[in-house]
Amino acid sequence: MLSDRHRGLIPVKPFQEKVGSKKNITKAAMKPINEKKNVYFNYHDQVEHLIQVGVSLSGEKNIDRLLEIIVEEARKLTNADAGTLYIMSDDETELKFAIVQNNSLDIHMGGLSEAISWPNVKLKNKDGRENRANVSAYVAISGKTINIHDVYNVEGFNFEGTKQFDKKTGYRSKSMLVTPLRNHENEIIGVLQLLNALDPSTGEIINFSAESQKIILSLASQAAVALSNSHLIHDLESLFELFIKTIATTIDERSPYTSGHIRRVAELTMAIAKKINETRQGCFADVKFSDDQMRELRMAAWLHDMGKITTPEYLIDKKTKLQTVHDRIHEVKTRLKLIKKDYVTAAQSEKKDLPVSKVLRSAEAEMKALDKEYQFLREVNKGEEFMSDEKIARIKDIAKREFFMDGESRPLLSEEEVYNLCVRRGTLNEEERNIINNHALVTHKILSGLPFPKKLRHVGDYASAHHENIDGSGYPFGLKGDEIPLQSRIIAIADVFEALTAKDRPHRKAMALSEAFNIMESMVKDNHIDKDLFEFFIAEKIYAAYAKRELTPQQIDV
Ligand SMILES: [Fe+2]
Ligand SMILES: [Fe+2]
Repeated sequence: MLSDRHRGLIPVKPFQEKVGSKKNITKAAMKPINEKKNVYFNYHDQVEHLIQVGVSLSGEKNIDRLLEIIVEEARKLTNADAGTLYIMSDDETELKFAIVQNNSLDIHMGGLSEAISWPNVKLKNKDGRENRANVSAYVAISGKTINIHDVYNVEGFNFEGTKQFDKKTGYRSKSMLVTPLRNHENEIIGVLQLLNALDPSTGEIINFSAESQKIILSLASQAAVALSNSHLIHDLESLFELFIKTIATTIDERSPYTSGHIRRVAELTMAIAKKINETRQGCFADVKFSDDQMRELRMAAWLHDMGKITTPEYLIDKKTKLQTVHDRIHEVKTRLKLIKKDYVTAAQSEKKDLPVSKVLRSAEAEMKALDKEYQFLREVNKGEEFMSDEKIARIKDIAKREFFMDGESRPLLSEEEVYNLCVRRGTLNEEERNIINNHALVTHKILSGLPFPKKLRHVGDYASAHHENIDGSGYPFGLKGDEIPLQSRIIAIADVFEALTAKDRPHRKAMALSEAFNIMESMVKDNHIDKDLFEFFIAEKIYAAYAKRELTPQQIDV
């Protein structure tokens, strides 16, 4: 049980022993802290520095670095040899080690340095009672600041762990200042523990003064606000990124054939950008993307096909020319059956006395011709081969055949069906192609309507320009050369490479790398994709790790 004099701001015990002087500390501990530049001899200097610290705390967005700064500055302000920062767990049942620093022992753990594997400090014992024996847990529970003169000589707290640590390292833990970190809602979000205040002139361990304590209380509240803000921003950013990825995955999942396309394009995009950042030679030597720019690019890549959210489902995977919601070749087949039936009926009525088999035999040639026409239509419907003028003429001929339905004579193929079947390359007619291509414009419209924060303001521009061509023949705006941001040109390379090598496209076997590179080379010659980027992509083998991860061994032929 803690006695009253151990609570609050009261120093726990008079400073009795002369321990902690230089001879009690290890050799490493002899590293003179008073040689450091930022040693404070008076309260005024401390206050002045505290103001500067406030600025640097609120300016630091990297949480790991922020945690480090809090301990570093707290130590500087109090001339403390060591410091530990604990962060409250989300369920508020334990304190997690965030930062451990000890100047004498040259220990720097947590934050941007090596992770800390030490067990968390539980706020409750196994029997369910509060853990008031551990000083940090006590501060987290009570919200009080504790200033101890000598941890070896104090009642109410258990410092066995500290003593064992000292035994192992030869260190001597002595004066200690422990204070809670409260956020704007007055909740305790962490605990700051400072150890061994050193006399700036002699390097001897002294008590944490009342001034130091005041300064640290002030620093703790600034730190807590900065940390809370940073967490809030971080949480919002994570939520935003997750939301984007969820939308992208939903778009991808609309088609079983393109699922994973957006993720893969984003991965390739970032692999290219990372390599550009690393390179020290060639045309990208001077290009460096900052962390914010990398984030902006990653978001643009994840959102590049956002506009496909409005593309009709049947168009996304249009497998045949006659496909709408279903493939209308089956209707054509039924119509041809009707023609055949009518033909037999007509022939029979002409040759009433002959059995059906004989009539059929006499009509055999005509039947075969109908079957051949169906086979031909079925083939061209797939859109796999280029449509020559002869083929188009043949379709128009076949279309003239008539079938009877509901007492009406109708052409075998409607005008619209003929139009679709006559598409020269692929399965999409011009209007459908335009609808698909429109996704880039829709991407632009959706994203330009969103109030992105300043550092992400180009996301929409980068995302929507991934189908622009260097020669200006692309869409949605026909941008040319440098008008197309480098970021969009990177996404374009990733987009094309992914689409060519994807394993799951309908009616096409997965393309080998050499074949994909040949096609990309011809796109470079046609001035569609960026030449320098493509050459960089090949020379730096940026595709290699991706291919190993995503492609089949048969595809990897270079
Ligand atoms: Fe696209
Ligand atoms: Fe795409």
